[in-house]
Amino acid sequence: MTSKKASSSGADEAETKLSPSGFPVKEVPGSYGVPFFSPLKDRLQYYYLQGAEEYFRSRIASNGGATVLRVNMPPGPFITRDSGVVALLDARSFAVLLDDAKVDKTDTLDGTYVPSLKLFGGYRPLAFLDAADPRHAAIKGVVMRLAVARMHQVAPTFKISFGAMFDAVDAGISSSPVQFNKLNEVHMFDFTCSALFGGKTPSEAMGDGAVTKAIKWLLLQLHPIASKVIKPWPIEDLLLHTFRLPAFLVSGDYAALTAYFAEAAAAVLDDAELAKTGISREELLHNLVFMALFNAYGGFKIFLPHVVKWLARAGPALHASLAEEVRAACPDGGEITVSAVDRMPLVKSVVWEALRMNPPVEFQYGRARQDLVVESHDAAYQVRKGEMLFGYQPMATRDERVFKDAGEFVPERFVDGGEQGKLLGNVVWSNGPEDGAAAEGNKQCPGKDMVVAVGRLMVAQLFRRYDTFAATVEDLPLEPIVTFTSLTKAAPLTE
Ligand code: HEM
Repeated sequence: MTSKKASSSGADEAETKLSPSGFPVKEVPGSYGVPFFSPLKDRLQYYYLQGAEEYFRSRIASNGGATVLRVNMPPGPFITRDSGVVALLDARSFAVLLDDAKVDKTDTLDGTYVPSLKLFGGYRPLAFLDAADPRHAAIKGVVMRLAVARMHQVAPTFKISFGAMFDAVDAGISSSPVQFNKLNEVHMFDFTCSALFGGKTPSEAMGDGAVTKAIKWLLLQLHPIASKVIKPWPIEDLLLHTFRLPAFLVSGDYAALTAYFAEAAAAVLDDAELAKTGISREELLHNLVFMALFNAYGGFKIFLPHVVKWLARAGPALHASLAEEVRAACPDGGEITVSAVDRMPLVKSVVWEALRMNPPVEFQYGRARQDLVVESHDAAYQVRKGEMLFGYQPMATRDERVFKDAGEFVPERFVDGGEQGKLLGNVVWSNGPEDGAAAEGNKQCPGKDMVVAVGRLMVAQLFRRYDTFAATVEDLPLEPIVTFTSLTKAAPLTE
């Protein structure tokens, strides 16, 4: 970085410095307003009066088009002490959040608040540890080895869950529309645990209440940032966003879930003990609970409704092309495997495009490790050590300066090999580029390959079984509610 002119005053110096791309370095625009009252008002705007997208767009507009700016992020009082963040709302500035040398991710998973560690057996799970923390490498190593070792279970296990979901859809559709989300919620819970650990599924081991236990536990940590789940909204705001719900409300559920994983994951825990990872069996157990229920199941619960949503919106012409590709790659009812779906360019493209349009985890946070200059496409801004950086990922992955027709779902966007190589690096749903890989020293999702495989298997199984389908979609903040209204079965195979 160069200085146009020598200056001893901090403000002057910031104005005269040039960024690596040659932009004058400016102070970040925007303001946090009046303590307590502004974060409260902003929370209501964010959830109920404007919605996330408009909340950011209106602030970009009132700050002269700047896509790096100071805003308050919910939940605010009384849960959060400091709601002020520097928001990075374009693809270029957002990339700072993926650079482990620049951001410290300790305790930033949920943003401006940290859930009670009582929800996690008193331990801080991997996703709340910074990449530089030695415990991070030790735990992540275990998870990465597990994810690789279990990949061969993904296709056969998914086939069972998919079959159960769509048998239920077929059984119900003749009398009334069938909601996908409820089925996904139940069957992907069993899928996640079986695919990762084998043995009994949670519903076999704990009965039908297993899913409810998991969802209650998820809600206890995420209620400060959940919305549109309780009506009317003033009651919701009071109940979910004002105070922390106490962890004891789910301590029984969490104990039952942990007991299940102690058995299901016994072999993983034994291996880790033998490998002397330096992490106690108990700490690793609580980490595996978090990984399976929050990271993996929580992700699938949001991801698959988005995939089905985009397929529903795209309509019969895309369905016909997908069916043709799937049936050509797996003729005569041949198994749909992870390597078979890897040979389906349109299926792969549709899944990446869904992950680009709707990264299932929309928010990323991290604290500046040192004073930083953050560049957007057209400007550079001074950020100070310790400031909280925040990115709303859909605005980064729908950035027109990176993707043509960025706001459109373009099914074949990632089919073309040449362009694909370049563009995939900007698909970052896994907290890292799609052409990158999880490592002990980074914060990228170690389930990345499994997630992409599951998305492809979903599309492939769907268009093996059906020629086309129709569904209604209700867009809600966390996941869209997708309800099938009709499905046209593929003609049965002739022997
Ligand atoms: C659709 C499903 C999934 C989505 C959307 C997803 C997304 C993500 C994201 C965005 C992060 C980074 C969070 C952050 O620091 O801001 C992450 C981390 C993580 N994910 Fe996934 N994930 C999914 C499935 C999985 C699966 C199947 C596994 C298990 C193998 C997994 C294990 C983890 C773990 C352990 C971390 C923490 C990594 C670290 O701190 O270095 N995830 N995931």
